[in-house]
Amino acid sequence: MLACPLPHFALSPEGCAATVAAMHHEFDTAFSIGSSHITFGPGCLGEAGDIAQDLGISRIALFTDPVVASLSHVQVVIDSLKAAGLSVAVYPDVAIEPTDKSFMAAAEFATSAQVDGFISVGGGSVIDTAKAANLYSTYPADLLDYVNAPIGAGDDPPGPLKPHIACPTTSGTGSECTGIAVFDLLEMKAKTGIASKAITPSRALIDPECTETLPAEVVACSAFDVLSHALESYTARRFTQREAPKRPSLRPSGQGSNPWSDLGCAAALEILGRHLVSGVEGSVESRHELMWAATLAGIAFGNAGCHAPHGMSYSVSGLVMDYRPAGYPDVPMVPHGMSVVLNAPAVFRKTAPSNPGRHLEAARLLGADISSADVDDAGEVLADQLVSMMKITDMPNGLSGVGYDDADIPALVAGALPQRRLLDNAPIPIDDAALTEMYTDAMRYW
Ligand SMILES: [Fe+2]
Repeated sequence: MLACPLPHFALSPEGCAATVAAMHHEFDTAFSIGSSHITFGPGCLGEAGDIAQDLGISRIALFTDPVVASLSHVQVVIDSLKAAGLSVAVYPDVAIEPTDKSFMAAAEFATSAQVDGFISVGGGSVIDTAKAANLYSTYPADLLDYVNAPIGAGDDPPGPLKPHIACPTTSGTGSECTGIAVFDLLEMKAKTGIASKAITPSRALIDPECTETLPAEVVACSAFDVLSHALESYTARRFTQREAPKRPSLRPSGQGSNPWSDLGCAAALEILGRHLVSGVEGSVESRHELMWAATLAGIAFGNAGCHAPHGMSYSVSGLVMDYRPAGYPDVPMVPHGMSVVLNAPAVFRKTAPSNPGRHLEAARLLGADISSADVDDAGEVLADQLVSMMKITDMPNGLSGVGYDDADIPALVAGALPQRRLLDNAPIPIDDAALTEMYTDAMRYW
């Protein structure tokens, strides 16, 4: 038998075959590591001024949303910036679910405020809006020029952006570590995004104290988003199974699972297994741990990419009818983390045969007892572990719990199909039929 002549990164026989195939230059053979410069720890928001000064910023645009604007975190940041001698232009009106319109309004603000740097204080919507404001005010263009193909042209910005310090106040999106900005394109009623390494924030200030006063429901949704980032990046198609880019510099950040992202995923999954439930229940120590898990998972998915649970989530949140979750503004919505995790058990049941060992290991890291589990049961074991965590934290019982029924499946599928960047990062081919099967399975879990 021919031994695999390349470093054996993959856990599965399929991975080895892909590695051999890579020698014929059909597939990629290398992976790249990118990361924000991160500062993590209680009280670190007070370092904002010194960091901004170090980045050479003199006039800074501060982006936040109306809820976060009323909390002390924003004032801590403003005081720190002013103490360092910076002039601050505050934009407190970031939309909770950003749209093309709200992105462009933020960019206009940045242009007219004539700033030379950005700071975002809030959740993923705020950080994503600051990324877009930086991009479109630095290199003005039609909105769709930088938006992912096929909806947009997918152009890369022509040069580096202005410095951006991202300060996440929830332990969710990982947006501070990624070159992705998500928004609703109003005229198409579709969630889409901009994905470019150029919009990755230059620095991240991650202060776990921000999570101490969040409502339990917000902590639960954020933590399940983190959990899915880690699980999806851990089980994504291996980087050696993706076609090599035309030029190495064009290697996507969603490059597939790799040895670097595996480290962060495994560590994050273990923390989530120990702290997700107690964090939702209010333990301050656990909430700080969840913020660290979010950071690890954010670095991992920024270097590997998510897949089907996220790809399927956009139509789940976009087609919402009248579901109004507790702990959130009183408008119909399915919070991002919820819209993701509702798909997750169905997806991992289906993807497990691609690499049962990896799915079983993920279940073990999350706290499942796998001592008597068979590899053939990997999908079921992982799904059961997810469902038990969802039940105990009062997540809805599948998509039916947020108002969908089987008649909605064609629309959910149609909304997910354009998310090719995510779907193609899954370890199995995802087509119309696979999406239909997974949405059907996701309707009800118990
Ligand atoms: Fe997410």
